[in-house]
Amino acid sequence: MSAPFFRGRRVLVTGGAGFIGSHLVDGLLAAGASVRVLDDFSSGRREHLAAAAGRAEIIAGDVCDERALDTALAGVEVVLHLATRCVRLSLSDPEGVHRVNSEGTLRVLMAARRHGAGRVVYVSSSEVYGTAVQAPMTESHPLAPTTVYGATKLAGELYAQAMTRSFGLPTLVVRTPERDRLRAALGARGIDTGLHYPIPVHLQPAWRHLGHREGDFPVAEAAARTVLSLPMYPHMGEDAVHRVCDAIEACV
Ligand SMILES: NC(=O)c1ccc[n+]([C@@H]2O[C@H](COP(=O)([O-])OP(=O)(O)OC[C@H]3O[C@@H](n4cnc5c(N)ncnc54)[C@H](O)[C@@H]3O)[C@@H](O)[C@H]2O)c1
Repeated sequence: MSAPFFRGRRVLVTGGAGFIGSHLVDGLLAAGASVRVLDDFSSGRREHLAAAAGRAEIIAGDVCDERALDTALAGVEVVLHLATRCVRLSLSDPEGVHRVNSEGTLRVLMAARRHGAGRVVYVSSSEVYGTAVQAPMTESHPLAPTTVYGATKLAGELYAQAMTRSFGLPTLVVRTPERDRLRAALGARGIDTGLHYPIPVHLQPAWRHLGHREGDFPVAEAAARTVLSLPMYPHMGEDAVHRVCDAIEACV
């Protein structure tokens, strides 16, 4: 994984001990970034960060906690916001899902503004589309989430947009492929992930003894690569980014 932009940059990954976040942390370190992780370890595991031990700064804390956010955001240029309560908690703990995914996202965005971060990347989900009315689902698919999780991820997207429009905070929203598809793909390869990924299906060295190698988890690896390859341009205003996008669209 190579992402020249990140070399020497100070990057915060919320949810960095999770499934995709830990891939991102590894990719960022490989790219020469200075990485900080904020994670409450509710579903993430310290083992996921085994390869990053001693190289990434790890803060155990909640994205809803202002003090933890102020510590985590200090001096950070780019925030990759992945901390989330997962879709399965939509039925058993909808308030918890709302607290972390909606309120937590707004708090991360406000803290990023307070600390003058140059870019916040919000990793969203295809759950914002709800039940597919067309396949494959493209970005023009209607936004009609069917789960509390999907609704909170959509709220996070809208908060990101609102923070950009109201305060000029540079944000980017990325929707990653659904987890169910990922689990099905892994299942087809004989890898049982269980409901909560109790055993990380990661490829960090700590787990290589289980026989996992780079390429075994193409969807998570691709999601991490996609986020890392996005243009971040922390010193470019939104107008400039839109001009670049328009120019690219005109060429393709
Ligand atoms: N895995 C997928 O296929 C998939 C699909 C669609 C979207 N996404 C999105 O990608 C991101 C990462 O997903 P994942 O699969 O790696 O999830 P994950 O559950 O493995 O990781 C989420 C991380 O957030 C942490 N976290 C939870 N609540 C927190 C809090 N209050 N404060 C700080 N940290 C907290 C957890 O401990 C965990 O490490 C999420 O934003 C998710 O919505 C993932």
